Amino acid sequence: METATMMCKTAMLMLIFIVTPSNASMNMQTYIVHMDRTKMTTTTSDRWYESVIESVNELLDQEDHESGKPKLVHVYKTAISGFAAKLSTKQVESLKRLNGFISATPDEMLALHTTHSPQFLGLERGKGLWSGSNLESDVIIGVVDSGIWPEHVSFNDIGMSPVPSKWKGECEEGTKFSKSNCNKKLIGARAFFEGYEAAVGKINETEDYRSARDAEGHGTHTASTAAGNLAYASIFGLAKGLAGGVRYTSRIAVYKTCWSQGCASSDILAAIDQAIADGVDVLSLSLGGSAKPYHSDPIAIGAFQAIKNGIFVSCSAGNSGPSSSTVSNTAPWIMTVGASYLDRSFEAIVELGDRQIFEGSSLYVGKALKQLPLFYGNTIGDLRAAFCIDGSLKKNLVKGKIVICQRGITSRTEKGEVVKLAGGAGMLLINSVNEGEELFADAHVLPASALGAIAGKAIKAYLNSTNKPTASITFKGTVYGKLAPLMAAFSSRGPNHVGLDLLKPDITAPGMNILAAWPPSTSPTELKSDKRTVLFNIASGTSMSCPHGMVLSALELLQPWNQVT
Ligand SMILES: *[C@@H]1O[C@H](CO)[C@@H](O)[C@H](O)[C@H]1NC(C)=O
Ligand SMILES: *[C@@H]1O[C@H](CO)[C@@H](O)[C@H](O)[C@H]1NC(C)=O
Repeated sequence: METATMMCKTAMLMLIFIVTPSNASMNMQTYIVHMDRTKMTTTTSDRWYESVIESVNELLDQEDHESGKPKLVHVYKTAISGFAAKLSTKQVESLKRLNGFISATPDEMLALHTTHSPQFLGLERGKGLWSGSNLESDVIIGVVDSGIWPEHVSFNDIGMSPVPSKWKGECEEGTKFSKSNCNKKLIGARAFFEGYEAAVGKINETEDYRSARDAEGHGTHTASTAAGNLAYASIFGLAKGLAGGVRYTSRIAVYKTCWSQGCASSDILAAIDQAIADGVDVLSLSLGGSAKPYHSDPIAIGAFQAIKNGIFVSCSAGNSGPSSSTVSNTAPWIMTVGASYLDRSFEAIVELGDRQIFEGSSLYVGKALKQLPLFYGNTIGDLRAAFCIDGSLKKNLVKGKIVICQRGITSRTEKGEVVKLAGGAGMLLINSVNEGEELFADAHVLPASALGAIAGKAIKAYLNSTNKPTASITFKGTVYGKLAPLMAAFSSRGPNHVGLDLLKPDITAPGMNILAAWPPSTSPTELKSDKRTVLFNIASGTSMSCPHGMVLSALELLQPWNQVT
């Protein structure tokens, strides 16, 4: 007993001892520091930045007892001359007094902007863009995202020529990632987490891989959209067909910068920095934050140097539409891609007890739900139940019924999970006026249909008109020939308030309900309770349209540039 108490006390003392210095670093954060190379005082930039950090530390040592030691996070070589470091505000002030200092931008956590499409774009094997001369070129596409699932059939290298000799990249080893995971299709894979860990703490390895392996699905999806090899694809038998990346003969180099809490801009800049040195031809970034002046936007700065090196940069516009001036990644040298519809939908028809019929959308496959009682909110004004928030639905009221859930607050598929757990038989997911008639096809865990705001209003009126409201849902599967292209409401819009003289986004490309590769370890709904495994999944966002944007680069811009280099 006695020794146990002693050990406990010692452990507590040690804890206090360990906690104190990190308390001091509480007021420290990562800055991206831009330096003027012409003022360099040493022979190498690495040495220079180290000496800068040392002098900042010495300058403050006597007077400043609150700050922790400054710590170098990244050294940039090609994208900018400078470094990222964890500094206190006092240390930044003293850094500003040093010769050669240009700017210090606080690091920021950015977010990911979460196959029929080639045919829709008019791409046919052997013709036009997909003709021999366009496909033979050894284009290397760098994808800055959440990593990749390298074993996926979309990344096999069957029929590919040897890795281009100009390639200087690497296949970095890490958690569940070895050199043998790369091949002639996936020619490079690296992970960047120094900035992320400086901000968030060490990566939780039970939830993510500390390597280029994708624990999320997003990066696997975008990489295969850009350059996945041809493969027969479908999800639950829907959207069946031969799927391939928009440039399915290109090589893929993966730069993982996005982790469970987001993507640190200091890591993104490090990835661009490395991609320039590695020799990619194109960079695709399906991520971003709010639009900011180009000189304080690390993506704009990195992309500028990439362009100077002959690299084409394609970025997503963001998913903050339809409000105006929401577009991000707006620098003139970036191709900013909005999202639009394909001519394909996944119909789930809803018929109310009074014979009104509405066309909804769902990836659910299975038998129709015959007329069943409708349920909406436990009582009038019960918003938690109206939005189907976890724990809000009373089992005795919901069991065996079709539950109406309003969009918002929680994810679309999470609402389906809540209804299913409460014993509901099905779900009608209705849009608010803001979401309009935008219908996402999701892999719901129960029979469900997503409906527009017009249907939502009619359903609420119907509920008022009867004591025994009912509805049925019939699943029609994949339907082609819809009106398209049509802009997606979520696609961020101009005007570009950073530079009003410049129209943004530049182009639109398919980003609504896109089928592409998916890791087997992530369920199609990304819900932990969902135990289903799929090889391909449907996702929507400007993230999905951004890799499609490469078609344009391949068509007009990349070819002449390649000839220059
Ligand atoms: C890591 O993730 C697992 C699974 O979500 C969780 O149970 C665990 O508490 C996490 N560990 C830390 C240190 O946060
Ligand atoms: C339904 O009735 C409630 C309560 O009487 C009312 O607040 C609501 O506006 C009605 N809804 C529609 C769509 O008529």
